Amino acid sequence: MTATDAETDPNNHSPKDHGAAAAHAVNEALESRLMAIEAAARFHHVELDRDELRVPKGGAPSPAVLVEWVRDGGLWCRAVRMRFSQILKVEASSPVILLLRDGSAAILTTVDPARNIIWVKDPRAPSGDPPVAVDELRLSQVWGGETLLIRAVRELTDENAPFSIGWVLGLVRKEGTLLRDIFVGAFAQALLQLIPPIMVMQVMDRVLTYQSLSTLTLVGLFFTLALVYETILGYSRRKLTYIVGARVDAKITLHIFKRMLRLPLDYFERQQAGVIIYRIQQVNKIREFLTGKLMTTMLDGVSLLVLIPVIFLMQPTLAWLTLVLAGLVGVIIVVFIGPVNRAVGRWTASETQKSSVLVETLHGIRTVKSLALEPQQREVWDRRTATSVQLKLEASEVSNWPQTLVNPIEGIMSRGIVLFGAFLAITSPGTVDPGMMIAFMMISGRVASPLIGLAKIMDDMQEVRIAVAFVQSVINQPPESLNPSAGLRPKFEGMVEFNKVNYTYPGGKTRALDGVTFEVPAGTMLGLVGRSGSGKSTVTRLLQGITRDYEGFVKLDSNDLREINLAHMRRNFGVVLQENFLFRGTVRENIIAGRPGLTLTDAVRAARLAGAEEFIERMPNGYETWIEEGSPNLSGGQRQRLAIARSVIHDPRLLILDEATSALDPESEALVNANLTRLGKGRTMLIVSHRLTSLTECDQILVLDKGKVLDMAPHLVLVERCSVYRQLWLQQNRHLESAAARAGIAVPVLAQGD
Ligand SMILES: Nc1ncnc2c1ncn2[C@@H]1O[C@H](COP(=O)(O)OP(=O)(O)O)[C@@H](O)[C@H]1O
Ligand SMILES: [Mg+2]
Repeated sequence: MTATDAETDPNNHSPKDHGAAAAHAVNEALESRLMAIEAAARFHHVELDRDELRVPKGGAPSPAVLVEWVRDGGLWCRAVRMRFSQILKVEASSPVILLLRDGSAAILTTVDPARNIIWVKDPRAPSGDPPVAVDELRLSQVWGGETLLIRAVRELTDENAPFSIGWVLGLVRKEGTLLRDIFVGAFAQALLQLIPPIMVMQVMDRVLTYQSLSTLTLVGLFFTLALVYETILGYSRRKLTYIVGARVDAKITLHIFKRMLRLPLDYFERQQAGVIIYRIQQVNKIREFLTGKLMTTMLDGVSLLVLIPVIFLMQPTLAWLTLVLAGLVGVIIVVFIGPVNRAVGRWTASETQKSSVLVETLHGIRTVKSLALEPQQREVWDRRTATSVQLKLEASEVSNWPQTLVNPIEGIMSRGIVLFGAFLAITSPGTVDPGMMIAFMMISGRVASPLIGLAKIMDDMQEVRIAVAFVQSVINQPPESLNPSAGLRPKFEGMVEFNKVNYTYPGGKTRALDGVTFEVPAGTMLGLVGRSGSGKSTVTRLLQGITRDYEGFVKLDSNDLREINLAHMRRNFGVVLQENFLFRGTVRENIIAGRPGLTLTDAVRAARLAGAEEFIERMPNGYETWIEEGSPNLSGGQRQRLAIARSVIHDPRLLILDEATSALDPESEALVNANLTRLGKGRTMLIVSHRLTSLTECDQILVLDKGKVLDMAPHLVLVERCSVYRQLWLQQNRHLESAAARAGIAVPVLAQGD
């Protein structure tokens, strides 16, 4: 089809021929680069999957993309810039790849520092070829220093490490130099903070007492300078903090999303979406705390290192008083942590429940509206809201207490000190003078708030711990596969075999599949029938690797399904369910679904195969028609045909249709069914349907009942020998039966002619 399109379009020729040679060179170079990386990965027993490499359109992948690719394969990888002298020091315990200027690559095999020579290998060279020796000069002509280091991972990678507060702190710590700058800035700022009080002290004691104008000018000048400097410092400190915050934030969000996608499907089926969303969003709290409050408090802590010694130098008695009062505040806060947290915990739990009502209602809004369930939903919402408000009030009541007790103490710290100072000045003259009093007040104010902040942080810690637990409860679930790159990547022929497969759903009492054994030869069509709940979908779920803890064997060709790489397997499958989700985007985008390397031509071909071409072309913008979330502008049949097109665009070896036509009107169903044979050409097909007429064309039909295989044979045989099948068939085709009886023709024959 691609070829015909190109031929019919005369404009297509010249530009293509023109760029062909250049494109070829790029591909050659890229090929060598990929081969080098694959060889390095193989050295660590990892098979990389090219389908997972995100090559940008019309260009070569950047080193960052390559690094990502290797890391996705479960290896440690870094792109660095090295000099020849550094290369000479490399311990060749694991492969090093030199990224050459022309886009290709060379593998470093050995180094000889004594002779200033390294040996490299061309990844395209046959494996028997010896490496080539190069010196610095020769290498510099082709290599600018770009190097990929690839190692096996010994400890847990960030990717796989369980989520914890320590993990997030690790991310923050990685911003090493920025953090150091921030702390240096904080220290300098703390020193500068001393200047105003000292100035005031000078002005009061010297300038006022001796009426010296020149000292005043000098003090003023110094003051201004310090002010300017402090402003700049403050600006940069905040800016750096924001940068660290934003970077950590980005890393956390990316990681969480990636990990969430790795969770097995049944986790999402077991949990309410509202609860998952709420829990995952708690990560915002953690990040806010770490890069906000914790950071500020720690920076304030740095200033305490400067300020506390100074107040003790100025007036020990007053300094002690300040510390004792701050300590008292700390005690009050710590005492209230427990009760406050319990109250807050109750409130958050009720908030989770409330939000799950919201999500549930939005998800089921069609049902809610059509069954006029609004009053019921509103009542549930009202009740949950009332509980939540009540608990929130209780929580604020409890947390109001420490605040109330702390306020007067803070007052004493800032103003009471003056009274006590005055008292000291009167009772023991000479220990305190007015300038110092004021300076002390200015500084002690800055001591008190960080001290109190330190106590409050314990309070926040508790809240963060709850948030961490929430995020953990989602993210630390065992992922679908521990190492996404592990497993075989065979080329599928399409033979499927179930051998004595038993499966019970987690928490289920009876077996959903019980000793299921059958075989589907490659390229044939298997129909699955049985009453609702007989295990038809379960068969297709096991086949997709959604659950892998079954007993018995499932084999694809001759490989055990559990040995096969999940992503690879699913990429070779096409699946259409009863309800299919179309994403926001154009028709074309929905059919291609982001699969690399596919174009409109492929989309058109897939649409034709799915019988969707005709209605797409009637749409206002054809393949560029925009589909909204939930696709309200499409009928059920159209949506289903788009889903089918989406599932066959990459020409899967195995196509699973699970009740794909069950929700369709007879006309759409007939349209899809008419295409089934065409769809199944060249691939294995599993069709689940409770309408037996859609299955008469199947090579074999498997009859399931309560998880057990009753029979397996073509339609005509089953009608003869399988009573359950015959019953179902007659139920659905009563009209045929009576018509047949009248005409005196046997039912199966008529059905075949249908
Ligand atoms: N996610 C699940 N959790 C627990 N039990 C399930 C789940 N899905 C299906 N079951 C049970 O497994 C059995 C087979 O279900 P299924 O394969 O979906 O039937 P069918 O597709 O033939 O209607 C049923 O008894 C059903 O109750
Ligand atoms: Mg089903």
